[in-house]
Amino acid sequence: DRELTVLGIETSCDETAAAIVRRDPFGNGTLLSSIIRSQFKDHEAYGGVVPEIAARAHVQVVDKIVEAALNEAKLDFGDLDGVAATAGPGLIGGVLVGLVTAKAIALVHDIPLAAVNHLEGHALTVGLTEGLRPPYLLLLVSGGHTEFLKVGGAFQYEKLGGTIDDALGEAFDKVAKMLGLGFPGGPAVERTAASGDPYRFDLPRPLAGRPRPDFSFSGLKTAVRQVALTHAPVSRQVAADLCASFQKAAGDVVRDRLRAAMTIYEASGLPRRLVVAGGVASNRTLRTALLKECEASEYTFHAPPPGLCTDNAAMIAWAGANRIAAGLVDGLDVAARARWPI
Ligand code: KG4
Ligand code: ZN
Repeated sequence: DRELTVLGIETSCDETAAAIVRRDPFGNGTLLSSIIRSQFKDHEAYGGVVPEIAARAHVQVVDKIVEAALNEAKLDFGDLDGVAATAGPGLIGGVLVGLVTAKAIALVHDIPLAAVNHLEGHALTVGLTEGLRPPYLLLLVSGGHTEFLKVGGAFQYEKLGGTIDDALGEAFDKVAKMLGLGFPGGPAVERTAASGDPYRFDLPRPLAGRPRPDFSFSGLKTAVRQVALTHAPVSRQVAADLCASFQKAAGDVVRDRLRAAMTIYEASGLPRRLVVAGGVASNRTLRTALLKECEASEYTFHAPPPGLCTDNAAMIAWAGANRIAAGLVDGLDVAARARWPI
C-alpha cells in the first residue's frame, strides 16, 4: 500500500463537483480540496431538475471545476495517482459528462480510473470525515433513495429495507413545492419549520410498528396536501406549522423504522453503529431523532457534516481512492448507468 492522491468528479444530478483526497497507506483520508457548483438557478423556473439542461450545464463547466479543485489543492494533473467519477445511478446525460471527463484524464495522464457508484460515495463518506470503516448499519436518505443497508465489510452491501413509494428527499421536495417554498425543497422546508409548531397538525406515521424496515411517504405527503388545501391560501404561520409537523412526522417515522432495521442488523452480531448519509441526513430534526434512538438502543451515531451529506465530489474521490487501493480499477470501456443498486 502506498499514498494515493485521487481526483473525484460528480455530475449525476444538478451539482457539478470536483474534489481531491489523499489516502494514506493505513486507510486514513485527507480532503485537499472540494469545489461544488450548483445549477439550481438554471432549474429554478421549472420547479425541478431538467435532465437536458443539467447535462449541458455540466459540459460547460466541468473542466473549470476540475481545474479549480487542482488549484485549491495546489496540485497539477501530474500529481494525481488516480481519477474517479460517478458512473451512476443518476441522470444519464450528466453521468456521461463526468465519466467521459474522468476517462480522458485517466488516458492522457496514464492513471487508474475508478467508476464509482454514487450511493457508495454517500455510504463511505464517514471514512473520510471521521475514519469510520465498515461494518455498520447505514441509513441512506437522498432525493432518489431511502433505504437501510447492512455494510458488512469493504464494498459489501446488503439491503435490509427501503421505500415502497417516494424517497424522503422527494417528499421534502414535494411538500416545498405544494407550499410554494421553492427549490431545492429540503432546506426550504427546514428553514420554514424553524418558526413552526410541530404539534399543530396531526399527520400520519406510515408503516409504524411494522417488522420489515420499509418506508412509505406518499400517505404523509397527501395528508400535508389536504391540510394545505383546507387552509388555502396558506398563511406564513400555517406553512411554518405544517412544515414543522411534517418534519416531526418524518423524524418519528424514521426513528420507528430504524428500530425495525436494528433488530434485523443485530441478528448478524455486527457492532452497534449507525451511519446516516445522503442529502436528507443534513436535516437537524432527522439527525436528532436518529441520535435519540441510537442513545436508547446503545448504538454509536455517525453522520458526515451537513456539507458532505448533500452531493459533493469528495465522497466520490474517497470511494474511488478506496477502490483503487483495493485494486478495483475500471477499464476505459466502463459504461454509465442510470440505474445501479449497490
Ligand atoms: O444526496 P443528495 O444531495 O442528492 C441525491 O443523491 O439525491 O440529496 C438531495 C435531497 C433532495 O431531495 C433535498 O431536498 C434533500 O436531499 N435535502 C434535505 C435537506 N438538504 C437536502 N432534506 C431535508 N432537509 C435538508 N436540510
Ligand atoms: Zn446524492
